[in-house]
Amino acid sequence: MVSSILITGGCGFVGSNLAIKLKSKYPGTKIIVFDNLMRRGSELNLSRLIEADIIFIHGDVRNKEDFGKIGEVEIIIDAAAEPSVLSGVDRNTDYLIHTNFNGTINCLNFAVKNNAGFIFLSTSRVYSIEEMERILFSEDKTRFVLSDRNGIIGLSGKGISENFSTNGYKSLYGASKFCSENFIEEYARAFGLRTLINRCGVIAGPYQYGKIDQGIMVLWVARHFWKQKLAYIGYGGQGKQVRDVLHIDDLFLLVDFQINNFNSLAGKLYNAGGGIEKSVSLSELTTLCEEITGNRILFDRIIETRQADIRLYITDNSKVTAETNWVPSKNVKETLNDIYIWIKGNENKVKPILY
Ligand SMILES: NC(=O)c1ccc[n+]([C@@H]2O[C@H](COP(=O)([O-])OP(=O)(O)OC[C@H]3O[C@@H](n4cnc5c(N)ncnc54)[C@H](O)[C@@H]3O)[C@@H](O)[C@H]2O)c1
Repeated sequence: MVSSILITGGCGFVGSNLAIKLKSKYPGTKIIVFDNLMRRGSELNLSRLIEADIIFIHGDVRNKEDFGKIGEVEIIIDAAAEPSVLSGVDRNTDYLIHTNFNGTINCLNFAVKNNAGFIFLSTSRVYSIEEMERILFSEDKTRFVLSDRNGIIGLSGKGISENFSTNGYKSLYGASKFCSENFIEEYARAFGLRTLINRCGVIAGPYQYGKIDQGIMVLWVARHFWKQKLAYIGYGGQGKQVRDVLHIDDLFLLVDFQINNFNSLAGKLYNAGGGIEKSVSLSELTTLCEEITGNRILFDRIIETRQADIRLYITDNSKVTAETNWVPSKNVKETLNDIYIWIKGNENKVKPILY
C-alpha cells in the first residue's frame, strides 16, 4: 500500500467515508483530508476523522497557496466540489466554476509536483441531457422503464455506458466537472500524470448531509424519520423518475482496488454506479422508507420539471466490471437501512442539519 493519500473535500460525504475506511484498512498509511468546510455537516464529519487519526488541513482548492500546507503525497483523491446539480442556476456561477474547475486544476498541479496518482470523482452529469431526453421509455405502475428499442449509442438495457454522448447541454454542474475531466486527460498526456476518472451517479450512505438539491436518499429517509413533508417534482409529479444507487462502501471497494492497481489502470475512465439491479424510483423509495421507518408522510405533487432534471439514469457498469472485477453489492434497501441506523443513532447531532 502507498504511504500517503491526500483527499481533497475529505470532510464531505464521499471524502470522509473513504478516508475512514482507508485508514482502518491501512493504519500505517498517512491519510490527509483537505477541506474548507463549506458544506454544512462537514464540520461534524471532522471530529470523526480526527478520532481516527486522520490529518486535517483547513484549506481551499481555489487557493494555490493552501496546497503549500500539505507536504508530499503519493495519491490524491479529488472529492472537493460544489456537488449540487442546481448550483449556479441562480446566475452565481463563481463558486461552482472556481471550485469544480479551477480547484481541480490546482489539485492537478499539486499532483504533477508530487508525481502522485490522481483519482477524480466525476459524475454521470457529464452526459448530454438532450440525448437523455431522446431515450425511449415505457411507464409501469411505479416507475419509468428503459425501452429496449432505443438504438442510441452508449445505451442498452443495462443502462448508460461511457460511449453515451457528452455533446451539448449537461447542466452547469455537469459542465464544470466535464471541463475538469478534459484537463485531467490533457495533464495525463502532457505531463505523464497517472490519472483515473470515476463517473458516478447517485452515491449514498451514512454521513451524507443530504438536502433538497443533493443527497436525495438521505433526504428521503430523514423526512420519513421526522415525519416531514416531501414533494414529487417534475415529470407529472408521479414520482416515477429512476436513479441507480451506489452505496459508499461499494465505492470504497472500487477506489481501494484502483489505488492498489494504479499503474495498470492509469488513464482509465469508468462509469461506476449501482446499476440496474440497484435502481429505484421516487415512489418506490417512499415505499422502502415507509417499511424501514414505519412512518408515512404527506407528498406534494409538482407537475413541472425542474431545470436540468432527468427522467431516468442507470449506470452500465460493464466496462469497470470487465476490467476490475468490481461489482457493487449493497442493494437500495440495505443502503437506506444503513442511513436510517446512522440517523437514529446520531439523532441529536444530525437533526440541526437534516431536519
Ligand atoms: N454524492 C454523490 O451522489 C456524487 C455523485 C457523483 C459524483 N460526486 C462527486 O463526488 C465528490 C464528493 O461529493 P460529496 O457527495 O462528498 O459532496 P460533499 O458536499 O459532501 O463533499 C464535498 C466536500 O468538499 C468541500 N469543499 C467544497 N468546496 C471546497 C473548496 N473550494 N475547497 C476545499 N474544499 C471544498 C466541502 O466542504 C465538502 O466537505 C464531488 O466531486 C462530487 O462531484 C458525488
